[in-house]
Amino acid sequence: MAGITNSPFRRLMKRMNSSVVVSELVSSTGLEYMGQKSFDLLKFHDEERVVGLQIFGDDREHLVKACRTIEKLGADFVDLNMGCPVPKVVKRGGGAAMCRDLPELSKTLRAMVESVKIPVTIKIRTGWDSETRNAVEVARVAADAGVAWVAIHGRTRAQAYTGEADWDFIGNVKAKSSIPIIGNGDLTTPEKSVERFKTYGVDAVLIGRGALRNPFIFDQSAKKLRGEDYALPVAEDYLEMIDSQRVLLEESFPTAKGVTIHARKFLAWYSAGFPGSAEFRKKVFTLEESDRLWGEARDFFAESVAKRDYRFLSEDFLMGGHG
Ligand SMILES: Cc1cc2nc3c(=O)[nH]c(=O)nc-3n(C[C@H](O)[C@H](O)[C@H](O)COP(=O)(O)O)c2cc1C
Repeated sequence: MAGITNSPFRRLMKRMNSSVVVSELVSSTGLEYMGQKSFDLLKFHDEERVVGLQIFGDDREHLVKACRTIEKLGADFVDLNMGCPVPKVVKRGGGAAMCRDLPELSKTLRAMVESVKIPVTIKIRTGWDSETRNAVEVARVAADAGVAWVAIHGRTRAQAYTGEADWDFIGNVKAKSSIPIIGNGDLTTPEKSVERFKTYGVDAVLIGRGALRNPFIFDQSAKKLRGEDYALPVAEDYLEMIDSQRVLLEESFPTAKGVTIHARKFLAWYSAGFPGSAEFRKKVFTLEESDRLWGEARDFFAESVAKRDYRFLSEDFLMGGHG
C-alpha cells in the first residue's frame, strides 16, 4: 500500500507473522530516469523475506528494465500493479488500464517474465467496470505468459473503494484458472480471512487495510486456520509492538521528524475502536516531540487495550489507494 508498506512496516508485519510482504508501488519510469525517490522505495531488509517489490508503468521497456533491477537487488519476486485506479496512472495506460488491451498485455507480461529468473506476479481488479469484468481472461493471459500468481482485489476499477469486494467473482476466477489465485478485499478479521480462504478455494488471501486496524490479524488468522484458538492481544502485546515499530522507524528514517510523520498515522490506525481514540488521535497529530509522542502512545494502549470495541474493525476506512 502506497505510503504505508515501506520497509520498516513490512519488517514489523513479518514479526507479526505475515507470510509474504509486498512493497508499495514504484514507478518503472521513475527508475528509468534514476529517480532517487523511486530507488529508495525499493530498499528492503533480509528480515522481510519472502518479499516482493511492486512496479507500475505504461512503458514495456521500462517495466522490463525494472524487473532486472529488482532481480539484481535480490528481491524474491517482482509484482506488477494492474489494479491502480488513480486517473493519473490509468490515463497513460498503466495500473488497471493494462487489463483493457489483452494482446498488448500478453506481450508485456511475456517480456517481463523472460527478462528475469525470479517469479513475476500480478495484482489486478475484477475488471475495468461492471460491464467488463475480465479477470478470468486476464488470468489466462498471465498463465500463458508464465506469470507465477494473480492477486485479485474484488472490485472493479470504476468502483475504486466503494461497495464490497465481490468474493463470489474471485471464487469464479479461481475455479476457471490454472494459475494460483490470491483473493483480496475487505478481510478485516481473522474469521473473515479464514472463511473466505476456505469457501472460495483461493490459494492464498492478501490482507491490506485490515492490518492497520488489527496488526495481529496475520498471526490470528494463521492460528484460526490451524484450528487453534487465538488470544486477543493484551496491553503488553501492543506495547511490545509499538516499541518494536519505534526502533524500526528510527533505524529507517534519519530525522526525528521523519519518524514522527510515519509513527502518527500508524498509531492513529491502531487506536480505532479503543475508548478515547478520537482524543488520542488529536494528541498524536499535535505532539511534535518524539519521546512525548511514544510516551502518550504507551500510556494510551496500556490503559485501553482491554476495553476495545471490536466492531470498529469492520468499518470502512481509507477509501482511496493505488490498487
Ligand atoms: C492507501 C492505500 C494505498 C494502496 N496502495 C496500493 C499499492 O501501492 N499497490 C497495490 O497493489 N495496492 C494498493 N492498495 C490496494 C490494497 O492493496 C488492496 O488491494 C485494497 O485496499 C483492498 O484490500 P483490503 O480491503 O484488504 O485493504 C492500496 C490501498 C490503500 C487503501
